[in-house]
Amino acid sequence: MKMKKFSKNPSKFYFHYPFPVAVVGVKVGDVVNFMSAAWHTQLSFDPPLYGVAISPKRFTSSLLEKAHEFSLNFLDFKDYRLAGTFGRLSGREVDKSRIPGGEWTIGNVLNVPILERAVAVYECKLVKFEPLGDHVLYVGQILGVHYDEDYFNTGVGRSTLLYMGNDLYSCAHSVNSVSFTKEDALRFLNESTLGRDEQ
Ligand SMILES: Cc1cc2nc3c(=O)[nH]c(=O)nc-3n(C[C@H](O)[C@H](O)[C@H](O)COP(=O)(O)O)c2cc1C
Repeated sequence: MKMKKFSKNPSKFYFHYPFPVAVVGVKVGDVVNFMSAAWHTQLSFDPPLYGVAISPKRFTSSLLEKAHEFSLNFLDFKDYRLAGTFGRLSGREVDKSRIPGGEWTIGNVLNVPILERAVAVYECKLVKFEPLGDHVLYVGQILGVHYDEDYFNTGVGRSTLLYMGNDLYSCAHSVNSVSFTKEDALRFLNESTLGRDEQ
């Protein structure tokens, strides 16, 4: 086996990337803001819970603690400039509700901004937030899902925007996907030398 580099105190660890970009949208009164997030995950099916880790330094963090609701907007690869703009400029300095291509409407069930160009959007009610290290995990219950039926007609997004870290973007192209079921896994096990009897 090739020796791997090992570090006990990595200052940065980006080896688990890429992540789909999720743009967090929040509205407090007349203030609307969007922020790109890479650190997010589904946490539960029933109820449908979704978590996103946001630094308390972000303008979004202060808005979220007033609004108690947010949207999560997923983009197509062609909209990487939107992701970079929402993720490299702060709403404290620029009005990110007026960015070209970033037109938005209000959600169906919550008072959250929904990006018109998003290929899918979750409307989330904040149910819990927990400081963890230098970020805060905001957990939302999904109360509504918008999605482009054509874009997801094969069950997966056509070319979902991914963030690789270091200001690099890529896409999860559905033509590169491959099906591998439990039956395939059992066949693979039988055909390979991985079966218990053969170990
Ligand atoms: C693609 C991308 C992903 C990011 N992911 C996160 C994240 O998961 N959590 C976080 O706190 N900041 C993340 N950031 C940084 C914020 O988006 C950035 O600081 C932004 O300017 C905050 O905006 P705000 O001050 O208007 O809230 C990310 C930036 C980019 C470009």
